[in-house]
Amino acid sequence: MSNKDFLKLIKKQRETKTSQKFKGTFLNYLKEVQDNPGIVKLAHKRLYKVIERQGVTTTDVGRDDYREYFNGEKLRKYKYFEKEFFGMEAVIHKLMQFLKSAALKGEESRQVLLLMGPVGAGKSALVEYVKSALEMSDRAYHLEGCPIREEPLHLLPRSLRSQFGELLGVSIEGDLCPICRHRLISEFNGEYEKFPVTQSSFSQRGRRGIATVPPMDANSQDVSVLIGTEDISKLDLYPEDDPRVLSLNGAFNVGNRGIVEFVEVFKNEIEFLHTMLTATQEKRVPSPGKNDMIYFDGVILSHCNESEWNRFKGEHTNEAILDRVLKINVPYVLELDQEMKIYEKMINRSDFKTAHIAPHTIKIASMFSIMSRLKSSAKCDLLTKLKIYNGESIIEKGRVKKIDIKDLREEARNEGMEGISTRFIMKSLDRALSDSDQNMITPINAIDTLVKQVKEQVIDDSLREKYLEILQDIIREEYLRILETEIAKAFITAYEEQAQSLFDSYLDNAECFTTRTKVKDKITREEREPDEKFMRSIEEMIGVVGSAKDGFRSDVTAYMFSKMRKNEIVDFKSYGPLKEAIEQYLITSVKDISRIVTKAKSRDNKQKKKYDSMMLTLIEDYGYNESSAEEILTYAANNLWRDS
Ligand SMILES: Nc1ncnc2c1ncn2[C@@H]1O[C@H](COP(=O)(O)OP(=O)(O)OP(=O)(O)O)[C@@H](O)[C@H]1O
Ligand SMILES: [Mg+2]
Repeated sequence: MSNKDFLKLIKKQRETKTSQKFKGTFLNYLKEVQDNPGIVKLAHKRLYKVIERQGVTTTDVGRDDYREYFNGEKLRKYKYFEKEFFGMEAVIHKLMQFLKSAALKGEESRQVLLLMGPVGAGKSALVEYVKSALEMSDRAYHLEGCPIREEPLHLLPRSLRSQFGELLGVSIEGDLCPICRHRLISEFNGEYEKFPVTQSSFSQRGRRGIATVPPMDANSQDVSVLIGTEDISKLDLYPEDDPRVLSLNGAFNVGNRGIVEFVEVFKNEIEFLHTMLTATQEKRVPSPGKNDMIYFDGVILSHCNESEWNRFKGEHTNEAILDRVLKINVPYVLELDQEMKIYEKMINRSDFKTAHIAPHTIKIASMFSIMSRLKSSAKCDLLTKLKIYNGESIIEKGRVKKIDIKDLREEARNEGMEGISTRFIMKSLDRALSDSDQNMITPINAIDTLVKQVKEQVIDDSLREKYLEILQDIIREEYLRILETEIAKAFITAYEEQAQSLFDSYLDNAECFTTRTKVKDKITREEREPDEKFMRSIEEMIGVVGSAKDGFRSDVTAYMFSKMRKNEIVDFKSYGPLKEAIEQYLITSVKDISRIVTKAKSRDNKQKKKYDSMMLTLIEDYGYNESSAEEILTYAANNLWRDS
C-alpha cells in the first residue's frame, strides 16, 4: 500500500464518523426532538436501552438453557453479557433490574449501585463491561462547548417547560450549568434559540460521559477530583464568582449523562462520599468556588469487598449513605461447567493459547476452586454437592440419589462469598506451565502447583488444611477415577468386536423381552427365556434400574428397528445410552488388561498392538499429545494400580 492508500483509508473512516453528526441551533434541535423524542433520555435509561437492544430472553424452568442451579427462579438473560460472563446470570439479572427501574424513574434512579463480593469474583470486569456498553450507544445531543455536555432542553425557562414537554412528548428536567448560563447571557443576549447544539459519543478514554474514581487515602483526597476546580490562572482575569474561572473536570462533571464508577468505594473517607450522596439524593453536585450547585444526571456504580462493607456498615454515622445504596452480592461461581468457561476464556486471551493443556486440567482446577467455596452439608459430601450444583444426577448403587438442590442452597445461604479466587487458579496454571519443559499443563502438575500455592499462600491454618485435603484426597481420587475410566475406554477401541457382540446379544434379549418371545440360539436353535441377569448387568452401568428397565428395553428395540427399516447401519455405537452402558460394562473387564499392559516393562506383540492403539485413541480422539499421554499413563501405572 502506498501513502495515498493509507490516506484514503483514514479519510474514509473520518467521513463515516463525522457524516451524521448533528450541528445546529437550539431551534433546530427542537425540531429534531419533535421528530424523534427518543433522543431525550436520562442516563439510566440510555444505559438500559443500549444493553437491552442486544437482546433479552427469559430463562424459565423447563427451558433448554435452564439450569438446576437457578433454583426455580425465573431470570432475564441479557445477550450482551453472554460471551463474557459465566454463571453470573443472577447478578446480571439484578443489575439490569436496577437499571430498568431507574430508567422508569423509580427510587433506584436516586441510588448508588454497589457490587459487593470476594476478590476476583468479576466485579471490576462487570463494571468495565457495562461502561463499554455505553460507548456503543448513540451520540448524545448537548450544548456546544459545555464542559458537562448537558442536555440542550435545560435552556428552556421553567415557565415554558410543561408546554414544550407536551409538544415534544418528552419530560424536561435539570438546570443550566453556570458556564452555559453565563454564555447565554453574554454571547447570545439571552436568546437561547440561537445557542449551538452538537452531538458527541461516550468514551472512557476521551473522558466523555464515563468517569472512574480510584480509592484515595485521606491525604491525597481532594474533592476537586469529583467536582472540578477553579482555574487559578484565570482568577486574575475574572472576578471570583465568574463561571469562566471554573474548570469542570471532576468525575461527576465528566460522568454527567453517563456513568461514574467508584472503585473500592469504602476505602474513601466519609466526607468524600458526601458528594456522592448529594449527587444521588438531589441530583446535583457542588460547584467549585462560589457558584450554585450543578445539576447531575448519571448512573453511579461502585464496588467493594465484604470486610470493607461490614466495617462501613458498622458505623451508624454512615446510615445516610447506606440508605442510598442498593447492594448486589457478587458471589463466586459454584457451578463447575460455568467456572470452567471462565478459565477457558482467560486462557484463550493469554499466551497460554499456544500451550498444550491436557484433558481434564481445567476441570480439575475448577473443581478445586468450587469445592473451596462450598459449605459442607450433612446431606452429602463436597464432591456430591459440587455435582448436584452442576446439574449432574448422582448414581449410587444403581439408583439416582435424591438430594434436592433447593435444600442444599437453603441450608447454605451466603455461600460463595469466600474461598479460592479465579486469580489464584490462573496464577497456579501459569506457574504449572512455566515449570513445564514441554510447554504443557496436565491435571497432575496442576494439582501439584495448586498444592504448592496453597502451602505458600494460605495463611489460615484450618483453611490450609481444608484446601490440602480437598486437593490431595478428594480431587486426587476423583481424578484417578476419571483417568482409570479414560484409559480403559481408550483400550476399548481394541475391543470393538467384543463390544459389538455384547450389543448383538443385548439387542436379541431386549427384543424378545419386549415382544414376550423366546430367544433362539443362533447355532443350536435352542429356545430359552431372555437372559434377565445379563441385561440388568448392562443397564446398571448407566443407572437404569427397577421399573425403568422395561421402557429402556422397548426404546432400544424400537430405535434399532426403525433404523434397520431405513436400511441404516446398526452397531453398538448407534444408540448413545446403550453405547455408554456397553462401554462401562467392558471397562470393568478391560481394567485388568489395561493395568497389565500399561504397567508392563516389556510387552509382547499382542500387548504392544493394544497399547499402541490405546495411545492413538488418547491422542487422536481424546486430545492428548504424546508427552501428556505418557505422563498420565506413567501416573496411572504408579498410582492407580499400585501392587499391593
Ligand atoms: N463469572 C465470571 N465470568 C467471567 N469472567 C470472570 C468471572 N468471574 C471472574 N472473572 C474474571 O476474573 C478476573 C478477575 O475479576 P475482577 O478483577 O473483575 O474481580 P473483582 O471482583 O473486581 O476482584 P477485586 O475485589 O480483587 O477487585 C477477570 O478477568 C474476570 O473477567
Ligand atoms: Mg476489582
